[in-house]
Amino acid sequence: MSKKPWAGRFTQPTDEFVEAFTASIDFDQRLYRYDIQGSIAHARMLAKQSIITDEEAQTIVSGLESILTDIEEGNFEFSVSLEDIHMNIEAKLIERIGSVGGKLHTARSRNDQVALDIRLYLRDELQTIQDYLDKLQESLLEQAESNLSVIMPGYTHLQTAQPVLFSHHMLAYYEMLRRDAGRLKDLFKRLNLLPLGAGALAGTTFPIDREFVAEQLGFDGVTRNSLDSVSDRDFALEFCGASAILMMHLSRLSEELIIWSSADFDFISLSDSFCTGSSIMPQKKNPDVPELVRGKTGRVYGNMVSLLTVMKALPLAYNKDMQEDKEPLFDTLDTVKGSLKVFADMIAQLTVNADNMREAAARGFSTATDVADYVVRKGIPFRDAHEIVGKTVRYCIENDKDIPELTLEEFRSFSEHIEEDIYDYVTLDASVNSRRATGGTAREAVQREIARARQERSERS
Ligand code: ARG
Repeated sequence: MSKKPWAGRFTQPTDEFVEAFTASIDFDQRLYRYDIQGSIAHARMLAKQSIITDEEAQTIVSGLESILTDIEEGNFEFSVSLEDIHMNIEAKLIERIGSVGGKLHTARSRNDQVALDIRLYLRDELQTIQDYLDKLQESLLEQAESNLSVIMPGYTHLQTAQPVLFSHHMLAYYEMLRRDAGRLKDLFKRLNLLPLGAGALAGTTFPIDREFVAEQLGFDGVTRNSLDSVSDRDFALEFCGASAILMMHLSRLSEELIIWSSADFDFISLSDSFCTGSSIMPQKKNPDVPELVRGKTGRVYGNMVSLLTVMKALPLAYNKDMQEDKEPLFDTLDTVKGSLKVFADMIAQLTVNADNMREAAARGFSTATDVADYVVRKGIPFRDAHEIVGKTVRYCIENDKDIPELTLEEFRSFSEHIEEDIYDYVTLDASVNSRRATGGTAREAVQREIARARQERSERS
């Protein structure tokens, strides 16, 4: 059994089950690269401040680099009796370079070390997530661009409401993801600060230079209170919260893809590579990927609540409870990354059944509001126009007719303000293209938004 770095004041060994129960190495080993990166910056700072010699720092840095190589090549055995990633690496360092390795932990505690590691790790992962988000936005934008003439029913209460462009619907999700990206960018500002130097909780008696470490590690600055530095997990919570919202968005898109790809709607086809069959019903092509993403939204919500509950009412500063921060955070990262990645490809490959969408849009009196707006333009108050068109729709239902099929006489039996030009307003294309103000579904308004998105993206890259 490995000797524990903190064994000095103990006379009895840790109970074997307790050892496994309290260990975090099974899940925190994924922090290894960041633990080493942080330690190297710390060692260099200790030398710069003459807390250790340059030679000692060099020995420590080389030792850490060789450990990094070993872990990356799969030549490192993690030990549960060494509890966590920090002690596993430190023990290996001492084993490899001798007692000088024991100087690395000067002016540092695992409490500020772990706070640093999670920030470094999350910072890297956030970049990956932003990249995946961007890819999915690109897929949505391309779908919007290549289906500009596709009209579909727009729904409220999942009842046909008004016709909209399929492109407009895709851009709705583009906007949601734009806000998601904005939330991640915003939380990055609070994440990208160095907590190291807080020590266990009160700071350190050594003349450290935190700003130097921050600069080496690419942080925008240092945290301002040692108690807060070791006990703050807001940045992880903000990420879990932003992820919950992001997954909520994906779950809505999932739900729509599932509905649209059903035989009853038949609006879209998902590529075979994102679906599976049934072992008993030969006709089935199940939309597994959107279903799973819809399902995985649940665990991301759960992770957020877990972490909030772990942190709730914890007295300052560090408490072992906080070791429970990692699994919900890691699971959220994995789930969000996986969901975005698979969605980017699936959206890029989906095909649209324009005829079915248009047919469905023509049903359900989707241009009734256009008739009402027409009557309003003739000077009738909207509430009266609503009543007039309501009666028109009832007439249509009773006589099995669609609005554009009514004769002028039939129209005029509901309002004498209606004239021949009504037929210019009640087609699907006229209905869609008359909604021209910013954010509307008219082709020209949608094209403006596509151009805006393209412009914004080209400025960013
Ligand atoms: N494995 C621990 C965690 O994840 C590291 C910090 C331990 N600090 C302590 N005082 N026991 O929170």
